[in-house]
Amino acid sequence: MAETANAVALNESQVPEVPAEAAAQGSKQTVDPWNVQGEVGADGQIKAINYDKLIEEFGTKKIDEELLARFERVTGKKPHHFLRRGIVFSHRDFELILDRYERNEPFFLYTGRGPSSDSIHVGHCTPFMFTKWLQDTFDVPLVIMLTDDEKYLFSEKRTIEEVQGYCDSNIRDIISMGFDPNKTFIFSDYDYVGGAFYRQITRLAKHITLNQARAIFGFNDSSNIGKIHFGSIQGAAAFANSFPHIFGEDEKKTVGIPCLIPCAVDQDPYFRATRDVAARLTYQGVRFAKPSLIHSLFLPALQGPGTKMSASIDSSAIFMTDTPNQIKNKVNKYAFSGGKVSVEEHRAVGGDTDVDVAYQYLRFFLEDDEELEKIRVAYSKGELLTGELKALCIKELQTFVAAFQERRAKVDDAAVKQFTDIRPLTWMGNPKVPKADIVVPKLEGAEGAEGGDGKLTKNQLKKLEKQRQIEAKKAQKAKEKEGSAAA
Ligand code: TRP
Repeated sequence: MAETANAVALNESQVPEVPAEAAAQGSKQTVDPWNVQGEVGADGQIKAINYDKLIEEFGTKKIDEELLARFERVTGKKPHHFLRRGIVFSHRDFELILDRYERNEPFFLYTGRGPSSDSIHVGHCTPFMFTKWLQDTFDVPLVIMLTDDEKYLFSEKRTIEEVQGYCDSNIRDIISMGFDPNKTFIFSDYDYVGGAFYRQITRLAKHITLNQARAIFGFNDSSNIGKIHFGSIQGAAAFANSFPHIFGEDEKKTVGIPCLIPCAVDQDPYFRATRDVAARLTYQGVRFAKPSLIHSLFLPALQGPGTKMSASIDSSAIFMTDTPNQIKNKVNKYAFSGGKVSVEEHRAVGGDTDVDVAYQYLRFFLEDDEELEKIRVAYSKGELLTGELKALCIKELQTFVAAFQERRAKVDDAAVKQFTDIRPLTWMGNPKVPKADIVVPKLEGAEGAEGGDGKLTKNQLKKLEKQRQIEAKKAQKAKEKEGSAAA
């Protein structure tokens, strides 16, 4: 099974429709690690992000009823409401993780956060909420990467001191999500790069060419080389041999331990590249495991479902430091409504829950399916008014934020040390099955350890050619300008 998955791997790094650094002008939907925006219609309105289109473009699989049914059979647990409601909507090889859980073979969870601001908002919390639930469900180790280096490299303004400061407060925020200290290792790149982790970083770096980085991420000739290299750092944490204190020193055993990466779908390009490299890596004749992924959609900005919450736009987000009153005022003032202009019209035709931000937030934060359905029906029929719907949303958000603040107040330096110390972790895995030994995956059809032809897919070549043409045009224009200025 793993063989077939690996055989197609080299084609996984398809090119996003719009390269990152050319995205701003386009009116098409853009979803990559740096830009998230729905299509801009002819009327100038931003449309909701089309997630089905992303599945198609990225070449991932939709999470369907069958997979959820299998999940419930294997774990004995009702799927999380994010799974039931399509908030966690897509995956790559999630079934391979279920196979391993069934046999109680080792795997781990990997997620991360880019420390770009002091205070996180509710949108940042949702992937962590889901990750915590996965940890509780599978009882496996979890590693959490803070990409202080990424946030420095990708910003003109930020200093190293600044991102390191964000890192410290973000680690405390992440701990407040309720992770188990015995099973969780939190690290920042600036602190942890070295040793086994750095060796794995260079394995990835060696197998990603400049051409590939350009095609996958849309870099151009003016992109700094730190950005171009960064993907190998984010990717390296997807391999168990990067964490010898957790999985042991024997790389013959650890390179075959896969991870499951819960992440927002904008992070997929990093891991497409990582999976492509994994398929080409072997260690002393042992194949590296390809990471599996499970993708979530974004919590919409208060302004509507066409963009995600942004920490740099205060009115777009509910921050975890907001007071109950701030939450109330922001939702009442800014939350985009799917209701009608007048009460009479709303009562007559009803509201649109697909675009209504208050309703969308309730999908994330109100766990009770029946209650949510009642609200949906009442609002769609016009029985429930926008103000009433917003009040329900405000209540859920206030409860969620208050509970977080209570836990956050208890996180002290000792807790930070506990989570960030380089130390062994303890976990049980599947309680119904004795722990399986680490199974060394057989080598069939994999290329040599230092192999990898670095060949590009057709799609990538096409994209590169397009980029080249755009750059040639730009250069031509610049020349003309110079010419006319001189004349
Ligand atoms: N690049 C991510 C960000 O900017 C952080 C990150 C690193 C991450 N590794 C990850 C997110 C793994 C999800 C999964 O937020």
